[in-house]
Amino acid sequence: MSEQVRRYTGLIDRYRDRLPLDPAVPAVSLGEGGTPLIRLHNLVKDLGRDVALYVKYEGLNPTGSFKDRGMTVAVTRAVEEGSRAVICASTGNTSAAAAAYAARAGLTAFVIIPDGKIALGKLAQAVMHGAVVLQIKGNFDVGMRLVKEVAADAPVTVVNSVNPYRLQGQKTAAFEIVEELGRAPDFHCLPVGNAGNITAHWIGYSELWARKGAAATEACAFCGGECRFTGEPQISTRPRMLGYQAAGSAPFLRGAMVDEPETVATAIRIGHPQSWTQAWKVAEESGGRFAEFPDEELLAVQKRLAAREGVFCEPASAASLAGALRDIKSGYIPEGSTVVCTLTGHGLKDPDIAIEQCKGAIIDVDGEREAVKQAILERLA
Ligand code: F0G
Repeated sequence: MSEQVRRYTGLIDRYRDRLPLDPAVPAVSLGEGGTPLIRLHNLVKDLGRDVALYVKYEGLNPTGSFKDRGMTVAVTRAVEEGSRAVICASTGNTSAAAAAYAARAGLTAFVIIPDGKIALGKLAQAVMHGAVVLQIKGNFDVGMRLVKEVAADAPVTVVNSVNPYRLQGQKTAAFEIVEELGRAPDFHCLPVGNAGNITAHWIGYSELWARKGAAATEACAFCGGECRFTGEPQISTRPRMLGYQAAGSAPFLRGAMVDEPETVATAIRIGHPQSWTQAWKVAEESGGRFAEFPDEELLAVQKRLAAREGVFCEPASAASLAGALRDIKSGYIPEGSTVVCTLTGHGLKDPDIAIEQCKGAIIDVDGEREAVKQAILERLA
């Protein structure tokens, strides 16, 4: 008799015992999580260093970004609480995820986006999933302020990462990495915008960590007691958390909020991070740090990753890998290290930037056999 194949049904079913959700509440899920951890051999060979370098390809979540991890938990919880609508400000990916999960749950999604500053694919997702899209003349930070003000006296649930259930969902990426590696990496590199994701990963690693003398049920400092420790420590060390920003949008490097953030990586065009205090604490506790990159370097690494490894991420996501490559080269990340970079979103989210970067790559030929053959032979010569 053949055994029934066990389907993967998303991260709430997988990790419900470690999430602040009632066991009886049905998950609003699109099968998010379970993303591949891909080892990069070619780029490491190019560098000539002995490191185990991995990318966690979060672009393969259902709506193409890591936001789905948080949104499945936040929307499941919103339904449980009887909410009829969700609201978020977004640089694009949160709005795509909110729109999709709200559609699935039968809720209305209101999304506030900065006029002209979100990538085409993300806008397409929000409108296709039926969100009410409010485009404002103002950046993400203005949108975030408006969301908080409006939600204070309107019957809507905020699903930005200020909603603690978002970070609870996003922490599961750390669980998956530990399960695959059998340990925590030595370094974990992430792009930083609002700084929710770096905080969520630290929550995840910390829950698995053997904390000397700490009670298994002790709440962590980050989530106001929402964590569920399983009791049994699963890792003996936690990674150093490295956060990377775009230079024109780098409040953690300036040590102060930035009022007019600018970067081609629109996903992280944020000057007033919502998880400011938590992220500083993550850097301090983990022995990590923040660093920044000019836009050109982010785009160059995005392209190199696609061309050398077959992995396509969006410009903001390339910040994690750009950081890792630079820090490996400089020796800040020593040889022998295991390094994980989170690739937060899929490259197809932002087709305009990709095409713009590769303009010269398209060859015009006559639509006949000899011309095509000639073009091929020239390139194989
Ligand atoms: N990478 C991508 C692709 C993102 O969309 C975001 C955030 C980040 C990195 C930064 O993550 O904010 O947790 O530090 N995007 C949000 C949005 C702000 O609205 O989609 P963070």
